[in-house]
Amino acid sequence: MEKKIALSGVKPTGAPHLGNYFGAMKQFVELQNDYEFYAMIADYHALNFIQNAEEMQKNILGVLLDYLAIGLDPRKVTIFKQSDVPEHTELAWIFDTITTVPYLKRSHAFKDAEAKNKEINVGTFNYPMLMAADILLYDTDIVPVGSDQKQHVEYARDTAEKFNRLYGKTFKIPEPMILKDVATVPGTDGQKMSKSYGNTIPLFAEPEEIKKYVMGIVTDSVASIPKNVFAIHALLRPDKELRFLYHAKAGKYKELKEMLIEDLEKFIAPMREQRKALARDIPGALGILKEGGEKAKRVAERKMAEIRKKIGVSL
Ligand code: TYM
Repeated sequence: MEKKIALSGVKPTGAPHLGNYFGAMKQFVELQNDYEFYAMIADYHALNFIQNAEEMQKNILGVLLDYLAIGLDPRKVTIFKQSDVPEHTELAWIFDTITTVPYLKRSHAFKDAEAKNKEINVGTFNYPMLMAADILLYDTDIVPVGSDQKQHVEYARDTAEKFNRLYGKTFKIPEPMILKDVATVPGTDGQKMSKSYGNTIPLFAEPEEIKKYVMGIVTDSVASIPKNVFAIHALLRPDKELRFLYHAKAGKYKELKEMLIEDLEKFIAPMREQRKALARDIPGALGILKEGGEKAKRVAERKMAEIRKKIGVSL
């Protein structure tokens, strides 16, 4: 039987954190055996945030090493960057022409930016259309993401349905895959872990950094259980075991944080070392990216040829 298709992406905007990993990237590794998996580096999406060539290059290479270090196997997974497949931006344009402004204005990301009175660039406004193109070009069945991306997958579904209604069946309707327990991984202050809130714990943190970040966790407590420490610890140990431990050490915040530091170091160290080893062979990593880009492009080109026919621009 043919494997189903899964696709997801990470923006190269800086060091990934535990929220990225537990909310999404860990699932990539788990799905790679059973799905035809596309792991994308969303560099054109990141262009909304990073407008410095050197930083962009460094971050792209960063996500590539991150993907390999967490255990994505390039023999099974197509690791590629969005900008290597120009069909993504081409299809995004076609989607723009069947999408209305009020519909895009409903996006949470747009509304957040508007609420902050930010000058909103067109790239931010159109973000969901480029993401719809990413997903739909590959006949994707499932999109493993954290819950903050749910609305974006809904945009992709709506856009596929709209195109199919207008031009005849062309796109599969993708499903988001969001794991309940890690849909929104909390940060050190209890809000969603996010680079923009400055409340992250980096996935590849060095021991000293782990210590610093954990000691900085806000210790609001319920019945002498520091809930933010517990919530992050819950990523690493079964709930029942953790409840027992936290009740036994109720009120001993420092001890509990020290336990979390130890558990995080145990969990992070092997991936961190693996990443360092991979960083010693940058040409090897770049070769993987090139090959992945070529493979993704072949698939996207085929789909684009069908789309161009459907809309009537191929003569
Ligand atoms: P990005 O780069 O912001 O985040 C990568 C993945 O991490 C998840 N995530 C979280 N999950 C749980 N708890 C958190 N605190 C948390 N923070 C981040 C995100 O949900 C995401 O799955 N738009 C996407 C990138 C993208 C994409 C795509 C994804 C571009 N094209 C096509 C899927 C399919 C983004 O900005 O992710």
